[in-house]
Amino acid sequence: MLKTIINSYIGHHRLGLKLKPVLVGELYLSGKLKHPVYVFKNGVFTPVMNEGTVPTKELINVLLKNSHREVFLYPDDVLEIKKSLETALVKLTRSLSVGDPLENGTKDIKLLSLNMGGLYKNPHNDELLMLQFQSSQNLSKFLLENKKFQSHYFHNLQRENFHFIVAQPMLSSLLLLSFLQSIHLFHDKEIENLFLSSYLKDIGMALIPEDKYDVKSPTERDQNLLASHADFSSDLLDGRVPLSKNYLTIIKNHHFLNDKLKELVSKEKKKIKESDTIYGIESTLVSVFDVLVAMTNDRPYRKGMTLFQSLELIKHMMSDDYPQEFKALVIFLKQFYKN
Ligand SMILES: [Fe+2]
Repeated sequence: MLKTIINSYIGHHRLGLKLKPVLVGELYLSGKLKHPVYVFKNGVFTPVMNEGTVPTKELINVLLKNSHREVFLYPDDVLEIKKSLETALVKLTRSLSVGDPLENGTKDIKLLSLNMGGLYKNPHNDELLMLQFQSSQNLSKFLLENKKFQSHYFHNLQRENFHFIVAQPMLSSLLLLSFLQSIHLFHDKEIENLFLSSYLKDIGMALIPEDKYDVKSPTERDQNLLASHADFSSDLLDGRVPLSKNYLTIIKNHHFLNDKLKELVSKEKKKIKESDTIYGIESTLVSVFDVLVAMTNDRPYRKGMTLFQSLELIKHMMSDDYPQEFKALVIFLKQFYKN
């Protein structure tokens, strides 16, 4: 039996001071819990698992089905999860190519995405950032060697139902890497760096208050604040990871297509000014896959579009400057989503 809801003012306040949020998916990494797990609903902490429970896939799925993306734990349980996440990620990064590539790749992608959640909570931790960078770099080499599983990795991650803030960077970067490999215009080192730039491009969201992530009708001020994450990302990474200025600029500009998208959605036929910067194909593709994944997935304030509807919009965004690449993108996506 679960303990009763903590609804006395003092009890609730004290509990709130002790508990720490973690993503529901992180419960996979917990052993036997030392304390209960809570969700925060309608202003109260409600227990959903007792102390002594081992969170199973079934228990976690019940939480996800009830739209809980975040749960609240006592600090020693959180610490235990963080330690096992880091240990599992280090271990798998070292032995990624040993054993079943489908299983290893799927697990690595899931662990990396969960670790990204930790990085959002602690963006100034150099050790955590380097673990994320080196593991992602290793993953990019592994992905290039395992082309036939790329689509499976993508769909498996999508099925995890993680919060978009941790799922989107990996989903868009997987698509980008797979597309770049398919068009044979870039060598592996460039693809690797573009994968890393794309994957780390949203790290600046860490500096934006979490209550802004799921706002159903963001004000103009909220929108401007959210848009500033691209600048924050570049600032947070500058000098801390081995990415050159060129790639930091791609990160800084990764939302440039969103302005074009806003014009298209609001049907404003505003002409792009002549002085506007012309972005290179690398920036355009990083941005395109970000927009594509965002548009085709649900958000708290809207339903996701179909792939076809998204491609119609992307066509207007890139086909004038990059008609050949747009054609290649359509062919690639048909194949990728068929697998
Ligand atoms: Fe972004």
